Amino acid sequence: MSNIKQNKSLKPYNSFGIEAKARHWIEINNEEEATEFLFDNADSDHPMLILGGGSNILLTGDFEGVIVKVNIKGQEIMDEDEDSVFLRVGAGENWHDLVMYCVEQGWGGIENLSLIPGCVGAAPIQNIGAYGVEIKDVFDSLEAIHLGSGVTHEFFHEDCQFGYRDSIFKREAKGEFLITRVTLQLSKDPVLNTSYGTIEEELAKLSYAPTIKDVSDAVIRIRQSKLPDPKEIGNAGSFFKNPVIDQEHFETIQAEYPNMPYYPAEDNQIKIPAAWLIQTCGWKGKRFGDYGVHKDQALVLVNFGGANGQDIYDLSTRIMESVQETFQIELEREVNVI
Ligand code: FAD
Ligand code: EPU
Repeated sequence: MSNIKQNKSLKPYNSFGIEAKARHWIEINNEEEATEFLFDNADSDHPMLILGGGSNILLTGDFEGVIVKVNIKGQEIMDEDEDSVFLRVGAGENWHDLVMYCVEQGWGGIENLSLIPGCVGAAPIQNIGAYGVEIKDVFDSLEAIHLGSGVTHEFFHEDCQFGYRDSIFKREAKGEFLITRVTLQLSKDPVLNTSYGTIEEELAKLSYAPTIKDVSDAVIRIRQSKLPDPKEIGNAGSFFKNPVIDQEHFETIQAEYPNMPYYPAEDNQIKIPAAWLIQTCGWKGKRFGDYGVHKDQALVLVNFGGANGQDIYDLSTRIMESVQETFQIELEREVNVI
């Protein structure tokens, strides 16, 4: 294909703002271009990376293969009844724009996921979640092209094996598919999810019954007050997942730290905020030249300007070692290290 570019700078394409180059770069706008590209490259042994908005990756060096930037656009109603709308959306659509569109239409289900950066195609990969909702709660199905064979597959809810920041696309099927379209089932008679305390507090200030627009506005306000904007300071949101530990381990730590925050998790386990663990180990606000740990949110590693990805990766390893040593808890990176 003629539109392959060489040595393309990736700085504008990753929310960490890391300077790195892609040896080869191609943008695809529809399924036909994707299959044509895969057919032409069937014999190539270049590594391939599928890219959305670049807001959940850490580039640790130049990418010596081909990056496929997915720009597949469009949205259409596939089916609808009294209660629901089935909306099929192109993988290259901006996630937050989709949320805004659904809120305008009065279709409920993703308002709590307002302002999450990135594209629609990446959202099911780590089962994006925030403020009591995950995409799995509204997910119907997705279409994806198998990179090896060029064959299109359809994945339904149970096929995706969704978990907390997890799906089959982070495990068995990692790096195997290019997601082209995602279909969501949205509600025409939305039930608000205000399980996250601060949302409830924000909505209680209203003198009328809140709508999904009010929930979305509250989420946007909370997020803007807590998380750094990648346009101002490079980051990829939470760098680690919140770990889950068993009751006995929890009680041992709690005896020493009675104010440790925690939440009940599945199978009688306990989820501990990684931000608290990292902060308690003394990392919050630490700056090393051009990179460090955010001053207001210890779970967010940041690039103040000219950091390279390897430095940020090494910092994440040091943080993991110190949390392991202090709490005997193994943190897991949420961000995809490239
Ligand atoms: P990318 O970073 O481009 O890619 C992520 C992974 O998906 C990569 O492995 C890539 O190869 C793969 N991929 C991307 N598109 C496709 C495709 N079409 N087909 C196959 N593979 C693909 N996440 C949350 O869950 N909740 C939050 O509250 C949240 N808050 C954030 C706040 C900030 C400030 C930032 C910077 C990030 C936040 N994130 C959050 C993380 C991020 O927004 C999500 O993971 C988002 O879904 C990433 O989308 P993307 O298009 O940028 O993915
Ligand atoms: N906390 C600290 N120190 C800090 C920040 C927070 O001790 O510097 C403690 C506070 O006690 C707070 C608790 O951690 O009560 C939880 O903090 P917060 O509600 O901000 O959430 P989080 O656990 O840091 C998670 C997700 C976010 C998501 C928010 C809201 C993960 C890994 N992160 O963050 O997702 O937006 O909840 O639901 O689950 C992302 O995945 O990139 C992301 C930003």
